[in-house]
Amino acid sequence: MKPLITLAIETSADETGVAILESKNLYEHTLITSLVSSQIRLHKTYGGIVPSLAAREHEKNLPILVKKALAIGKRKDKLPRHIAYTQTPGLAPALLIGQTFAKTLAWALGIKAKGTNHLRGHIVSSFLAQGSFAIPQDLFPAIALVVSGGHTQLYVLESFTKSTLLGQTKDDAFGEAFDKVARLLGYPYPGGPHIERLAKKAQAKNAEIAFPSPMLESNDYDFSFSGLKTAVRYFLEKQGEKAGHVDFIAQTAKAFQEAALKPVVGKTKRAIEHYSAKTLLVGGGGCANQKLRQDLKTLIEQYGGDVSLWLPKKEFTGDNAAMIALAANLEYLT
Ligand code: KG4
Ligand code: ZN
Repeated sequence: MKPLITLAIETSADETGVAILESKNLYEHTLITSLVSSQIRLHKTYGGIVPSLAAREHEKNLPILVKKALAIGKRKDKLPRHIAYTQTPGLAPALLIGQTFAKTLAWALGIKAKGTNHLRGHIVSSFLAQGSFAIPQDLFPAIALVVSGGHTQLYVLESFTKSTLLGQTKDDAFGEAFDKVARLLGYPYPGGPHIERLAKKAQAKNAEIAFPSPMLESNDYDFSFSGLKTAVRYFLEKQGEKAGHVDFIAQTAKAFQEAALKPVVGKTKRAIEHYSAKTLLVGGGGCANQKLRQDLKTLIEQYGGDVSLWLPKKEFTGDNAAMIALAANLEYLT
């Protein structure tokens, strides 16, 4: 079989992504190029993503990135024969720009465009690397944890195309909670990196602040973060002037981060054990968090080599088109 060369387009939120990926089979892949143009600076002033502005930026960025990607593909003799685009979930006006662009480009090139699920992309993002990379055989059953700005989910996977959603957040997503608490502490969107930095600064010896971990004991795989955010808000309101002090802000960030991580790690552990998983796949902007990565590593070490942990490289934790291309190719090839 001829290798699959796919050009992918990602426009679900505030990153415009274009990538070309070559897949020889399910296990051997080469990332020809992955381009991402971030709009974070534009949305920062609004405290979150403004859908109509995001759509306008995607419209502006897509022709530039696609032209660049196709030039790289041509130079490396890897011109795409397939197009994949993020179909759902995401911001409707932003998704529509990507879909329309992908379908028009496919029409002009005389090839097909295929809609791909954004979350499937995050689930396989931990395999990605620049250039050639391999996906091992014998990964399943696998548990997948997605922690992004819009989702917090646990899945069990029988294959790359057969998955069951075990549970998800009932209100705010993991990343969203970091964004909202960061805002309460006076830091801009995206809040995750600020909370993480502040938590690192906090001295362990002063750690007298603690928040309850939401749904830690509940007998399911669901999450809830909005009560925790409200607990932080009420706590800050009670502190008066003290709430503006740098050390105090750092302590609060650390306590929030700990309370948010516990149910994520605890429920992932339960899912791995219940389904006798061989693999844990992690994805989404939230897994850029070093403390989460470390806690998951510590968890997996307990299984003494029976479970393998896949965490995305930092550049593939956030939204990108390489993960969309990989999800699409794995679907074609399964
Ligand atoms: O996956 P992503 O780029 O976009 C969505 O599909 O939602 O995730 C963005 C989210 C934001 O909420 C951001 O605050 C969060 O990921 N994030 C983090 C960290 N870095 C980014 N959350 C916690 N700790 C981090 N270091
Ligand atoms: Zn995402």
